[in-house]
Amino acid sequence: MAKMEVKTSLLDNMIGVGDMVLLEPLNEETFINNLKKRFDHSEIYTYIGSVVISVNPYRSLPIYSPEKVEEYRNRNFYELSPHIFALSDEAYRSLRDQDKDQCILITGESGAGKTEASKLVMSYVAAVCGKGAEVNQVKEQLLQSNPVLEAFGNAKTVRNDNSSRFGKYMDIEFDFKGDPLGGVISNYLLEKSRVVKQPRGERNFHVFYQLLSGASEELLNKLKLERDFSRYNYLSLDSAKVNGVDDAANFRTVRNAMQIVGFMDHEAESVLAVVAAVLKLGNIEFKPESRVNGLDESKIKDKNELKEICELTGIDQSVLERAFSFRTVEAKQEKVSTTLNVAQAYYARDALAKNLYSRLFSWLVNRINESIKAQTKVRKKVMGVLDIYGFEIFEDNSFEQFIINYCNEKLQQIFIELTLKEEQEEYIREDIEWTHIDYFNNAIICDLIENNTNGILAMLDEECLRPGTVTDETFLEKLNQVCATHQHFESRMSKCSRFLNDTSLPHSCFRIQHYAGKVLYQVEGFVDKNNDLLYRDLSQAMWKASHALIKSLFPEGNPAKINLKRPPTAGSQFKASVATLMKNLQTKNPNYIRCIKPNDKKAAHIFNEALVCHQIRSGVEVLFNELEIPVEEYSFGRSKIFIRNPRTLFKLEDLRKQRLEDLATLIQKIYRGWKCRTHFLLMKKSQIVIAAWYRRYAQQKRYQQTKSSALVIQSYIRGWKARKILRELKHQKRCKEAVTTIAAYWHGTQVRREYRKFFRANAGKKIYEFTLQRIVQKYFLEMKNKMPSLSPIDKNWPSRPYLFLDSTHKELKRIFHLWRCKKYRDQFTDQQKLIYEEKLEASELFKDKKALYPSSVGQPFQGAYLEINKNPKYKKLKDAIEEKIIIAEVVNKINRANGKSTSRIFLLTNNNLLLADQKSGQIKSEVPLVDVTKVSMSSQNDGFFAVHLKEGSEAASKGDFLFSSDHLIEMATKLYRTTLSQTKQKLNIEISDEFLVQFRQDKVCVKFIQGNQKNGSVPTCKRKNNRLLEVAVP
Ligand SMILES: Nc1ncnc2c1ncn2[C@@H]1O[C@H](COP(=O)(O)OP(=O)(O)O)[C@@H](O)[C@H]1O
Ligand SMILES: [Mg+2]
Repeated sequence: MAKMEVKTSLLDNMIGVGDMVLLEPLNEETFINNLKKRFDHSEIYTYIGSVVISVNPYRSLPIYSPEKVEEYRNRNFYELSPHIFALSDEAYRSLRDQDKDQCILITGESGAGKTEASKLVMSYVAAVCGKGAEVNQVKEQLLQSNPVLEAFGNAKTVRNDNSSRFGKYMDIEFDFKGDPLGGVISNYLLEKSRVVKQPRGERNFHVFYQLLSGASEELLNKLKLERDFSRYNYLSLDSAKVNGVDDAANFRTVRNAMQIVGFMDHEAESVLAVVAAVLKLGNIEFKPESRVNGLDESKIKDKNELKEICELTGIDQSVLERAFSFRTVEAKQEKVSTTLNVAQAYYARDALAKNLYSRLFSWLVNRINESIKAQTKVRKKVMGVLDIYGFEIFEDNSFEQFIINYCNEKLQQIFIELTLKEEQEEYIREDIEWTHIDYFNNAIICDLIENNTNGILAMLDEECLRPGTVTDETFLEKLNQVCATHQHFESRMSKCSRFLNDTSLPHSCFRIQHYAGKVLYQVEGFVDKNNDLLYRDLSQAMWKASHALIKSLFPEGNPAKINLKRPPTAGSQFKASVATLMKNLQTKNPNYIRCIKPNDKKAAHIFNEALVCHQIRSGVEVLFNELEIPVEEYSFGRSKIFIRNPRTLFKLEDLRKQRLEDLATLIQKIYRGWKCRTHFLLMKKSQIVIAAWYRRYAQQKRYQQTKSSALVIQSYIRGWKARKILRELKHQKRCKEAVTTIAAYWHGTQVRREYRKFFRANAGKKIYEFTLQRIVQKYFLEMKNKMPSLSPIDKNWPSRPYLFLDSTHKELKRIFHLWRCKKYRDQFTDQQKLIYEEKLEASELFKDKKALYPSSVGQPFQGAYLEINKNPKYKKLKDAIEEKIIIAEVVNKINRANGKSTSRIFLLTNNNLLLADQKSGQIKSEVPLVDVTKVSMSSQNDGFFAVHLKEGSEAASKGDFLFSSDHLIEMATKLYRTTLSQTKQKLNIEISDEFLVQFRQDKVCVKFIQGNQKNGSVPTCKRKNNRLLEVAVP
């Protein structure tokens, strides 16, 4: 066995004996001496096996420092000198490492140090468990719940300046690593009677004093309070100030703690308002007032306090006032109101104050639970810490003590069950030789109290619910009847005669033999306290409060939820909650701390042996029960324990050694277990990591393969599907197109058939005509603007816009020309007309025939060039001619013989052609026009012409005439015209470059030759022979 090095072992430097199991000889005296010796050396902790005994030092010891925490951390229970930290550590590690839920049961009398012990356990666990911001907040909240609950649930009593007036059980929840997650607090039976009345030398709950001393003036004003304890009836005056307690400072601590725990500012203020209301309730006083019917009625003395309470809580003053003076009893259909007398009014007031306060306290616990509850839903490990009032044996024991002692009785029972019974069973299981110990089982006492049919609590409930007059005495009578034969019940009135003469047992009392001793209970107040009656009128008034917290504290006041059944009695409520607690504890691994108080004076260094002896009795019993010593080996004397056989001592020694070995083995076991477990966990973790990576890789590959295959298959299928759809769609499209085409044609036909008659048949033509019309219109309108001048010789004409208008255009041009010519002509006078007719005649005769013609066009035809009338030379000539002269001009007459020319006057009248001498004016020849047959001339540019005469006529005897004149064209034309008008015969005009002329009998040919003349441009005439006359023309 490997020996572990230890610093201060249980045995080294030991004052007395650290573990009572090792005490030799073991009897009550050595036991107490050992405790005292250790206590005197400031060793307040001693073990009895695994139970820790703690003796209250009533002074602060330097044994709770952080260094101490470190010292005890992760060390084995027996390794170091006894300490509450060792037990805490053991419990915590067992919870963390072995996954066992723990409970720490702290018992002891009031003032023995239970609450302190519970706080030490909690702070140790908080110090050693996990760290981190979140965890620290949880811890802080768990720890800070204590000051809040202590302010409201603790009070100064005779035994303890900070006595818990409620039982408390707290489950601290941890996760698998051992980090705290949160907690749940249960409270048991707050001593609410303290709110309205405190025993001599004791105080009300701390919070009242803290509020009055610590609140700011502003807050006090708001709460309508005064900083004067003596103003309040509910605060006993004799111990308002406690030595060493600074209420004001504590008030700040509490406010701060509330904040940490998670109370909103308005919540904290609501809570204080309720506290203030309770305080002020105590100041409401009543006075009797006689009514006409002779009954007494109570009246509120000073309504000011009532008014302020109502203002504070938001209750209608009249409602509350009525609730204090009437009591309404409702049964099925009936509703009866009775007035309250003064005593009843006070009772109602106190009941209200107590209820208000105790409900507030329960609300606080719930509110704290809400804040500290574990946030996660993971599986939790639990460490429960039970700090509950110890066994109470006072001079006057009432209902409260009865209840408390019942609870302790139950705890004892669970202690027995969990330790002794279980161990015995284990030994049997392990086949270890074991002589059965007949330990005292207190189940019978529990049964006396809690039995459902004839237990004391059941009797009490029955009595409370019974109709008729019910008093504490009737209850006691009933007990006397039912429980008389019970061996742990004693009563003077019982029929059992053995107590008839017992003067220590008053008539109004009953006595119970508890496991820890006999307790005498005063029956007075049992019924009332069990009923815990609050008149419905009051709860309904409270429910009407506008103060949300107060309203929520009295849900039964809601008329909608009226419940005619009585609420459960205090006793049965407590029984039920104790049962739950026991059930809870049974599932956990117990750890015991037994607190002992060394004196009744709250003083340090004083060890009152008698007092301690009284307290340890049950402890010693435990010790012997724990050791596997056959029962016949020892027995209890009055103050001594007898051990029969010395062998037992050796056995004890052996056991001690064995125990040390066991310890080492345990250490080894735990260490090896730990090592293997860590190694295993590491391997497991690695294996998981590797497996995860490999699986991931394999899955990835498989996934990729599957994915690509799936893709290929998908693509084929999709392709196939798409093609199918495409075919289908194409087909559909073709069908659609065909249908559309058919439909279109069909519609076309239909429409055409339908509408042809309206427009189609003539539309083209009409449109064509219209268009044409428009074009033509446009054409004409444009033409109008583009017209050329009216001058007939103007050659301009606008261009043709359209080919199809070609003929029109030309026609138009022609018409226009004709029109303008006509216009032009219309301006002419008759004379002019004649001239133009003449000119026209000339044109018809000579144009394109005679080269001379063009030169004549510009010359006006004057006719009478010689003005015979005016010239006196020609007087005779003029006289000779009676007719009108048409031509009078000088011409050259060509001599027929030689071709020489002589000037003659050529005269033409209407009927005659005359030739006269130019000088004398003597008429040489006269030819009637009827005798002129023909006129010949060349086509050349010359003025020669021949006048042919009729053969055989008088004039023709000399032959035809040959002339040359500058006005040939005019003369020939006039001759022609005159002949035509006179003879109605057309004069023959021959145009030829060779013609025959009759000279006397001879016919002479006149021939025109071009360009062969001698003297320039003047034509010359020459007789070549008798047959030819040549004329040379230019
Ligand atoms: N371990 C301790 N160290 C110092 N003083 C203690 C210790 N335990 C208790 N006390 C003192 O005793 C008083 C009463 O203790 P408390 O735990 O309130 O008793 P209980 O809860 O058992 O009624 C405390 O206020 C404190 O002064
Ligand atoms: Mg306490």
